[in-house]
Amino acid sequence: MASSLRISRLLSRSSSSSSFFSLGGNGKLGRRVSKYSTSAAATIEEPIKPSVEVQHTQLLINGKFIDAASGKTFPTLDPRTGEVIAQVSEGNGEDVDRAVAAARKAFDEGPWPRMTAYERQKIMLRAADLIEKHNDEIAALETWDNGKPYEQSAKVEVPMLVRQIRYYAGWADKLQGHTIPADGALHVQTLHEPIGVVGQIIPWNFPLLMFAWKVGPALACGNTIVLKTAEQTPLSALYVANLFLEAGLPAGVLNIVSGFGPTVGAALASHMHVDKLAFTGSTETGKAVLQLAAKSNLKTVTLELGGKSPFIVCKDADVDQAVELAHLALFFNQGQCCCAGSRTFVHESIYDEFVAKAKARALSRVVGDPFKSGIEQGPQIDSKQFDKILGYIKSGVENGATLEAGGDRFGNKGYYVQPTVFSNVQDNMAIAKDEIFGPVQSILKYKDLDEVIHRANNTAYGLAAGVFTKDIDTANTLTRALKAGSVWVNCFDIFDAAIPFGGYKMSGQGREKGEYSLKNYYQVKAVVTPLKNPAWL
Ligand code: NAI
Ligand code: MG
Repeated sequence: MASSLRISRLLSRSSSSSSFFSLGGNGKLGRRVSKYSTSAAATIEEPIKPSVEVQHTQLLINGKFIDAASGKTFPTLDPRTGEVIAQVSEGNGEDVDRAVAAARKAFDEGPWPRMTAYERQKIMLRAADLIEKHNDEIAALETWDNGKPYEQSAKVEVPMLVRQIRYYAGWADKLQGHTIPADGALHVQTLHEPIGVVGQIIPWNFPLLMFAWKVGPALACGNTIVLKTAEQTPLSALYVANLFLEAGLPAGVLNIVSGFGPTVGAALASHMHVDKLAFTGSTETGKAVLQLAAKSNLKTVTLELGGKSPFIVCKDADVDQAVELAHLALFFNQGQCCCAGSRTFVHESIYDEFVAKAKARALSRVVGDPFKSGIEQGPQIDSKQFDKILGYIKSGVENGATLEAGGDRFGNKGYYVQPTVFSNVQDNMAIAKDEIFGPVQSILKYKDLDEVIHRANNTAYGLAAGVFTKDIDTANTLTRALKAGSVWVNCFDIFDAAIPFGGYKMSGQGREKGEYSLKNYYQVKAVVTPLKNPAWL
């Protein structure tokens, strides 16, 4: 079938390094038969022991792993059980001062911004090689700390981290300014110079990928970094940062301060010696860090924030493929994606069939211990998110949406939630307006294109959109009309290292990945010299 071929082509070329989704050998999007019932009574077996030791739990400052100034630690938890994996050094403002001082010295006096771009590139490539060598340990740490399926960590996310670092290593020796034909007898050139000390605050849903998106371009441009991991997932970045040291990254170039938002995050955002801030997380916290940046030293800020992205299934779509892709667009990573396709708009002519199949697909989703092979969905990150998601499910029922599947916790331990599907969702319901960040699909019915464009855009967010159609004119209309930083047509969640990503409206400011991200990490200096010899103008 033509549509099947189109999707195969789009998705099969997206090997592990660019797409989260893959196809089975038959060209169909992978579907597995559930071994588990998704009933509330289901129990999760004894958790599988991860095959990795936690090696790094201290702060990384000036090339050394050290305790927090206060000596305090905080526990990082296993979302499968809520039990403690390890105690991690808990930074505070004093530690941020120490890390910024180290980064400042490394920038102002150290070799990193002064070495040749080729030398910087070689260090980044060596780090990527080491990460690749330790793929399985890093993947195990990521799954243990976050709860995402191990196969996703090991086969997709660590390879994507490697790819992203190699991609930006490739840029290091290709960053160059221009000569500009200004009026008059002038030689005008632009220099692209690193900004200085960069503060980076990352969330817990993709700890390794957010590390890569931030650290890659910052290092390629010659900056130094103080990075704050999310308090839920501090482990994998510390492990990977140590590999950067092993690869020859000079002391002070990459510092990591683990800890909490109001202490470490706020200190970084308001620090007078941090020159630029990059943040990924909630829209609410994004507003807070922007204010802190403005009130301190006006550091430039890039923001990757929340979303409520539409996934539009047109009347000519192949329903089976649209169901599968809409399912993945929402349920991938336990629904904890800023760009989740969380409003599934379906044309009225195929609505009933779509709902029945989306329900069946959710009921067959394989939930369980993320270390087990074949698992599609692990636990949510923590009790706060777990409670938030169950609260939204309750509100959906109370507001009159039809609960087709799921609706409760899965098992009796940890933070597992049943894959949940609502139909008959109306635009004014909280489940259609707010970012739920969990495995809850809301299916909405529409009649015509103008209507769905208006409804899809009627949100404060604008991160991504999915379009499912075989009609080129419909696709062209939608890709131009939708107010979103990414529009995926007959595919979703394609994250090639070279493709820019970011939000319209309150989904963010600036773009990450690809060439566009570099602009966040260098300054442009115009250098003007008079030409004294008019014979050679
Ligand atoms: P958050 O935005 O508060 O946390 C993200 C990062 O910001 C973490 O490292 C956190 O420690 C830090 N942070 C928190 N408060 C801060 C402050 N005052 N100053 C500086 N840094 C601060 O998000 P949270 O609480 O983890 O999740 C809440 C909701 O945010 C989720 O339910 C989801 O809807 C959304 N979210 C969106 C993400 C995205 O990828 N766009 C990622 C994580 C959460
Ligand atoms: Mg954890």
